[in-house]
Amino acid sequence: MTGRAPITILPLMTTDPIPGIHRVLGIETSCDETAAAVVDGGAHIASSVVSSQIDLHARYGGVVPELAGRAHVELLTPVLADALDAAGSDTSGAGIDAVAVTYGPGLIGSLLVGVAEAKALALAWDVPFVGVNHLEAHLFASLLEQPDLGWPLVVLLVSGGHTLLVEVSAPGRYRLLGGTVDDAAGEAFDKVARFLGLGYPGGPAIDAIADDGDPTAFAFPRAFLDDGYDFSFSGLKTSVVNMVRKHPGVATADVAASFRQAVVDVLVAKARRAAREVGAKALCLAGGVAANSLLRQRAEQACTEDGIGAFLPTRALCTDNAAMVAAAGWWRLGHVGPSPLTLGADPNLRLVPTA
Ligand code: KG4
Ligand code: ZN
Repeated sequence: MTGRAPITILPLMTTDPIPGIHRVLGIETSCDETAAAVVDGGAHIASSVVSSQIDLHARYGGVVPELAGRAHVELLTPVLADALDAAGSDTSGAGIDAVAVTYGPGLIGSLLVGVAEAKALALAWDVPFVGVNHLEAHLFASLLEQPDLGWPLVVLLVSGGHTLLVEVSAPGRYRLLGGTVDDAAGEAFDKVARFLGLGYPGGPAIDAIADDGDPTAFAFPRAFLDDGYDFSFSGLKTSVVNMVRKHPGVATADVAASFRQAVVDVLVAKARRAAREVGAKALCLAGGVAANSLLRQRAEQACTEDGIGAFLPTRALCTDNAAMVAAAGWWRLGHVGPSPLTLGADPNLRLVPTA
C-alpha cells in the first residue's frame, strides 16, 4: 500500500452546512446495487431503497460490468421514484435541497448512469449537485447511526473492492494506516466461495455455512499478522484452493469456518493494534464485510476487553446504500461546496490526501 498521507475529512456538524440545504437525495450505482435515499440534515434517513442485482450476476459468479451498467439504466428510475415517494416527495423533487451521487471508485459504466441521472435531476430541480467518494460514503454510514463517536477513532473499511485501516485523529482528520497489497477482504470471500461452489456473493454464503464448521480444522496462513497495518489475502485464498484440491473430501463447512477465522483473526488483530497505538476511543467497522458475523462478534469482544467503544453499523448500512452517499454529500456541500456539472465518473478515485 503506498502513501500514508492524511486523507479527507469528515467533520461532524449538528446544523445544516449551507442554509437551506437540509434534505439531500443520494444516488449510488458504483457496482451492483442500484440505490436511492433521502436523508435530512446528514443524519436522519427519510427513505432508503436498495435494489440488488445479485440474481443477475449470480450465474456468472461475479459482477459482469456491462450487465451491471444496463441494469442500473433499467432500475434507477423506479428506485428513485420509490425513494422519493417514501420520503413524501415525488419526481418533481418537491422538498429536495440537493442531489448527491457516488462518482467513484467503481465500475465506469455503472458510475456513469448515476452521475448522469444526478446531474439531470439537479438541473431540472435547480438544486446543487455534489459528487461523493464511495469510500468516504462508507465512513459516513457509521456516523449516520452514531454521530457522537469519540475521537480519535480507528475505522476498518472492508468491502468487495477495498480493505483500509484509517485513523481519525480528530473530527475531520483522517490518516491512512494501511491497506491490502493484493485482494480486498470481500474479494477473498467471493473468490473462495466461488471455488467452493457456494455462489455469489461469497461473503454471506461463507458466513452462513461457516457457522456449522470447525474453525480450527485447517491452519490457513495469517499474512503479516504481527507486522504493520497492511493486509494480504491472496496467499490465504491460494492455500485454501491447494488444500481442497489435495483433499477433495474435506467438509466445506470446515473449510469455510477455517478461512473465515483466518481473515477475521488478521482484521481484528490489526484493527485492535492500531486502536491501541493511536489511543482510539472507538473502533468502527465499515463496508460490506463489516456484515460478517464473526468479525462483528470478535471486534466487539476485543473492544470490550480493551475498554474502548465498538461501532458496528447495522448490516443494511454496511453494504452499499445511498443513505451514506446522501449523508456524505450533505457534509461535502458544507465543507467543500457543490461539484461542477462537468464532474465526470472516476473509476479509480481514491481518498484524497489533504494538504
Ligand atoms: O461494500 P459492499 O456492499 O460493496 C463494495 O463496495 O464492494 O461490499 C460487498 C462485499 C462483497 O465482497 C461481499 O461478499 C462482502 O462485502 N460481504 C461479506 C458479508 N456480507 C457481504 N463478507 C463477509 N461476510 C459477510 N456476511
Ligand atoms: Zn461499497
